[in-house]
Amino acid sequence: MSMDEQISTPYSELAEDPMQDLDWEKGRTNTETHHHNSECSEQRPEQHRKLHWESVFKTKEYKKVLWHQDSPALSVELIDRAGTLPDEAIIDVGCGASLLIDALIERGQQRLTLLDVAEAPLQIVKARLEASAESVEYICADVTQVELKDAYDIWHDRALFHFLLRPIERERYMKRVYSSLVPGGIAIIGTFAVDGPTTCSDLDIVQYDREKMESELIHGLELIRSHEVMHLTPQKTEQAYHYFVIRKS
Ligand SMILES: C[S@@+](CC[C@H](N)C(=O)[O-])C[C@H]1O[C@@H](n2cnc3c(N)ncnc32)[C@H](O)[C@@H]1O
Repeated sequence: MSMDEQISTPYSELAEDPMQDLDWEKGRTNTETHHHNSECSEQRPEQHRKLHWESVFKTKEYKKVLWHQDSPALSVELIDRAGTLPDEAIIDVGCGASLLIDALIERGQQRLTLLDVAEAPLQIVKARLEASAESVEYICADVTQVELKDAYDIWHDRALFHFLLRPIERERYMKRVYSSLVPGGIAIIGTFAVDGPTTCSDLDIVQYDREKMESELIHGLELIRSHEVMHLTPQKTEQAYHYFVIRKS
C-alpha cells in the first residue's frame, strides 16, 4: 500500500493506538523565537555530502526523485496532532524541495524555517513559493554542524537522519534536536524502516525501528509514538518508512 493510500486511512488503522495522541500534544510555552539569518554558511566540513546533494537537485527533476511526495499528508497530520498553533515555529531539516512547506503555508503557519545542506533545493523552493518565499527563513548548512539560534516548537525531518552513518554525527544531531526545541516541543523524524531500502539516493543509510531509534535518543528526548508507512515512489515502487514522534521533556 502506498503512503498516500495509507495516510488516508483512519488513524485507528495505523500502527498504534490513536488514543495515545491525547497525551502527546506538546506543552505550551511562550518561548520567543528569534529569526535566523538566512545566509548560507561558507564553511562546511562535510563537503562531499554537500556536493552530492547539490548535484542531485541540479541534475534531476525534483518531482521524479524516489523520495518525492505529491502530498506530504502524514507529516502535516503529525504536525496537526501535536496541536501546533499558527504562530508556533516549525523547522524542516533536510527539507529538499519537499512540498511540505507549501502545505504548512497553506495551513496558516507563520514561523517556518527550512534547512538543507544544499543550496539548490532551497532555490527550487523559493522559486516555487513566489511571493510567499519571503515569509520563510532559509538556512543552508549541515545539520550536524550548524548552531541554530532559534527555538522551535516542531522539528521535522523526513529522510535526512537515516543518512547519518557515524554514531558521533547521530549524537550531534540529537543534541541539536534537544537544544533547538522548546520544552515540550516535538520532533517528527521519518526514516527508512527495517524492512525498507538500504540505500537512498545511492548513499548508504541506517534503517530504524522503535528500539533502534530509542537507542539514539539522548536524555530529555522521549519517543512517544511511531508509524510505519509505505511510500509509493514516482516510479510506482514501494519504500517502507518509519516515522518517529519524539518529545523534549
Ligand atoms: C532524501 S532527501 C529528502 C528531502 C525532503 N525531506 C523530502 O522528504 O522530500 C534528503 C535531503 O536531506 C538533505 N541533507 C542530507 N544530509 C544533510 C545534512 N547533514 N544536513 C542538512 N541537510 C542534509 C539533502 O540535501 C536532501 O535535500
